[in-house]
Amino acid sequence: MAVLNLLALIFATLLLLLRRSTGAGAGISSDTLKNGGNITDGETLLSAGGSFTLGFFTPSTTVPTKRYLGIWFTASGTDAVLWVANRDTPLNTTSGVLVMSSRARVGLRLLDGSGQTAWSSNTTGASASSVAQLLESGNLVVREQSSSASTGFQWQSFDHLSNTLLAGMRFGKNLKTGLEWSLTSWRAKDDPATGDYHRVMDTRGLPDIVTWHGSAKKYRAGPWNGRWFSGVPEMDSQYKFFYIQMVDGPDEVTYVLNATAGTPFTRVVLDEVGKVQVLLWIPSSREWREFPWLPRDACDDYASCGAFGLCNVDAASAPSCSCAPGFSPVNLSEWSRKESSGGCQRDVQLECGNGTAATDRFTPVHGVKLPDTDNATVDMGATLEQCRERCLANCSCVAYAPADIRGEGNGSGCVMWKDNIVDVRYIENGQDLYLRLAKYESATRKKGPVAKILIPVMASVLVLTAAGMYLVWICKLRAKSRNKDNLRKAILGYSTAPNELGDENVELPFVSFGDIAAATKNFSVDNMLGQGGFGKVYKGTLGHNIEVAIKRLGQSSGQGVEEFRNEVVLIAKLQHRNLVRLLGYCIDGDEKLLIYEYLPNRSLDSIIFEILKRATYYWTRI
Ligand SMILES: *[C@@H]1O[C@H](CO)[C@@H](O)[C@H](O)[C@H]1NC(C)=O
Ligand SMILES: *[C@@H]1O[C@H](CO)[C@@H](O)[C@H](O)[C@H]1NC(C)=O
Ligand SMILES: *[C@@H]1O[C@H](CO)[C@@H](O)[C@H](O)[C@H]1NC(C)=O
Ligand SMILES: *[C@@H]1O[C@H](CO)[C@@H](O)[C@H](O)[C@H]1NC(C)=O
Ligand SMILES: *[C@@H]1O[C@H](CO)[C@@H](O)[C@H](O)[C@H]1NC(C)=O
Ligand SMILES: *[C@@H]1O[C@H](CO)[C@@H](O)[C@H](O)[C@H]1NC(C)=O
Ligand SMILES: *[C@@H]1O[C@H](CO)[C@@H](O)[C@H](O)[C@H]1NC(C)=O
Ligand SMILES: *[C@@H]1O[C@H](CO)[C@@H](O)[C@H](O)[C@H]1NC(C)=O
Ligand SMILES: *[C@@H]1O[C@H](CO)[C@@H](O)[C@H](O)[C@H]1NC(C)=O
Repeated sequence: MAVLNLLALIFATLLLLLRRSTGAGAGISSDTLKNGGNITDGETLLSAGGSFTLGFFTPSTTVPTKRYLGIWFTASGTDAVLWVANRDTPLNTTSGVLVMSSRARVGLRLLDGSGQTAWSSNTTGASASSVAQLLESGNLVVREQSSSASTGFQWQSFDHLSNTLLAGMRFGKNLKTGLEWSLTSWRAKDDPATGDYHRVMDTRGLPDIVTWHGSAKKYRAGPWNGRWFSGVPEMDSQYKFFYIQMVDGPDEVTYVLNATAGTPFTRVVLDEVGKVQVLLWIPSSREWREFPWLPRDACDDYASCGAFGLCNVDAASAPSCSCAPGFSPVNLSEWSRKESSGGCQRDVQLECGNGTAATDRFTPVHGVKLPDTDNATVDMGATLEQCRERCLANCSCVAYAPADIRGEGNGSGCVMWKDNIVDVRYIENGQDLYLRLAKYESATRKKGPVAKILIPVMASVLVLTAAGMYLVWICKLRAKSRNKDNLRKAILGYSTAPNELGDENVELPFVSFGDIAAATKNFSVDNMLGQGGFGKVYKGTLGHNIEVAIKRLGQSSGQGVEEFRNEVVLIAKLQHRNLVRLLGYCIDGDEKLLIYEYLPNRSLDSIIFEILKRATYYWTRI
C-alpha cells in the first residue's frame, strides 16, 4: 500500500514537473496567459496561491472523447469543477487549445483541432495589451496588462456562472444593464451540458430566489425581508461558514457570498436534480462534505397546497396541507387523496365592491414563509398601519404583510397581494401574513334557517379545534426554543472561558474536566452509553438535571491540542438542524471531551451515526 502511494506520488510529481516545463516552453507564467499566448490540452494555469486550476478535462467515463475547458479546485481535482467554458460545445479531441488573442475585441478563444472556435469570451474592451489571469479567488479574468489585478476587468468568468457559487461571486440581476448572474444545473453528474434547472434572482415584487425546472417554478426561497429570504431564516445564523451580503437597490438586486474568516473552502452547487447543496472542503480528510440545503422537505415544493393553502411539515400526517383560516378545499375528494394543489376557496365571499369595504377584516397567519410576490404591490415607505388601511380600501387586495422586518416593532414597508396567494408554509422564525376575510356577521345573514344555526356551531367547533391545535403548536414551538435556551444557559453557567477557541464567530463554552467528571459520576460504567473507535460516550447530568451526552476521545488519538481546537471550531460552525448539537467542549492535558445534546428517544447508534456520518466522519481517525 505504502509503496503504491509512494509510486503514485513520484508519478504525480513527475507529471507536474513535466507540465511545468511544457508550460514554460509555451511561454506562460503560472497564472497568466499573455497576449498571443496559449495553453494546449494537458497544460494548465494555476492561481497564485495554488487553490484553483484552469485546464482541459473529461468528466464522463462513458464518453471519453468529450473535452471541456474548466476551472476546478486544485486539491480535489476535476471532482469539483466550478466553471466550464464550453459546456454545450465539447471538443471531440485532445488537440484543443485556449488562445489569448492579440486581436482587439476578442479576448480568450477556445479552438478545436481544426482551428474552429468552440467558445469565445467575446471581450468587447480587449486590446492588444490585454492578458488573461486566473485569480486566487477562482475568477478567470481578462484585463489590461498594466491595470491593478483587482478591478477593471474587461471580462471575468464570475460574470458567467455555471452551477456553482463561490465566495466573492455575485448572484442576481443588474436592473440597468440587464446583466444576470444565475446558476444552471449540469445535465447529469458527469455531463456539464446545460441542464433543466435554473436558479435565478426573481426581481418581480420583492426579491426572491427561484429554482425553475424548465418553465415551471420548482422551489422558492421566499421574499427578501431585509434580513433573510423569508423561507430560509437559517441564512441569518445557521450556516456560520458563510454569510450573504445583499444589495437590494434600484439598479441592482444581488448578493455576494462571503466566507467567514478561517472557514474551510465552501461552494454552493445547484445539482442536476435541482437541489442546492452546500459543500465544505475538509482538509484533514481531503474530501467534500455535503450539506443538503434546499429543498428541506416536501413543503418547499412550489405551491404544493395550491391557492390559499398552507403547508406544514410538523403536522401529524406530515407533510400536510391545510387551508388558510376562512377557506376550505376547492375539491374535498382530491384533498382527501392528498392532492391538494387545487387549493382552497373562501367560505364567505368578500363584501367589498358594494361600498362596504369597511366590513371586511384581517386575520393574521403567524410564522410563515410569505407567499409568492410576483404579482404583489410593494411600497417600502409605508408603515404597517398604512399598509392595512390601503389593503382594506382596495377590493383587489387579499392580503398584506410588512416588507421589511428590520428594526423595532412589527416591521415596516408594505407588500399587498391581489387575486390569490400561493406557496405559503409554516416555518420556524416565519413571518406574519394578514389575510382579508369577510366580516363574520354579514356572512350568516344570507344563509337559510338551518344554516343559520348549523354554520355558526360548526364554525365555532372548527375555530375552537383550530385554536386548540394552534395553541398546542405554539406551545411546542415555545417549549422547543425554551429548552434550547435553558440548555445553552446552563452550559454557559459552567463555562470558564467561553471564547478560548480563538474564533470570535464561535461561542462554544469550555467546561472544566472536574465538572464533567462530576456530571458522569467519575465516568462510571453505569453512565456509559457506548463505545466506538473514537472513544467512549457517557450520559451526564449538568446543573439542575440537564442531561447531556459526553464523548471522551481516546487518549491514544495522537491529535494535538491545536488540531483538536480547530476541529471543534469546525463542528461548532457546522451546527445544523439535522445534527445533534454540540454544546461544549473540554481540553485538559491529554483529555479531550465533547458535550452534546442528549436525545433520550434516539438510540446511541443514531447519534453516533449522525455525528460521524453527517458532520465529523473524520473523527473516527482520532
Ligand atoms: C501556441 O503557442 C505555441 C508556442 O508559442 C505556437 O507555436 C502555436 O502556434 C500556438 N498555437 C496556436 C493555436 O496559437
Ligand atoms: C464534435 O462532434 C460532434 C458529432 O460528431 C459534432 O456535432 C460537433 O460539432 C463536434 N464538436 C466540435 C467542437 O468540433
Ligand atoms: C460570442 O459571440 C458569438 C457570436 O456573436 C456567439 O455565438 C457566442 O455565443 C458568444 N459567446 C459567449 C461566451 O457569449
Ligand atoms: C467579506 O467580509 C469582509 C469583512 O466583513 C470584507 O472585508 C470583505 O470585503 C467581504 N468580501 C466580499 C467579497 O464582500
Ligand atoms: C374533484 O376532483 C375529482 C377528480 O379529480 C373530479 O372527478 C370531481 O368532479 C371534482 N369535484 C368537484 C366538486 O369539482
Ligand atoms: C352588491 O350589491 C348588490 C346590490 O345591492 C347585490 O345584488 C350583490 O349581491 C352585492 N354583492 C355582494 C358581493 O355582496
Ligand atoms: C401572476 O399573474 C400571472 C398573470 O395573470 C399569472 O399567470 C401568475 O400565475 C401569477 N402569479 C402568482 C404567483 O400568482
Ligand atoms: C388596487 O390594487 C390594484 C392591484 O394591486 C391596483 O392595480 C389598483 O391601482 C389599486 N387601486 C387603488 C384605487 O389603489
Ligand atoms: C405589534 O403588534 C401587536 C399585535 O398586533 C401590537 O399589540 C403592538 O402594539 C405592535 N407593536 C408595534 C410597535 O407596533
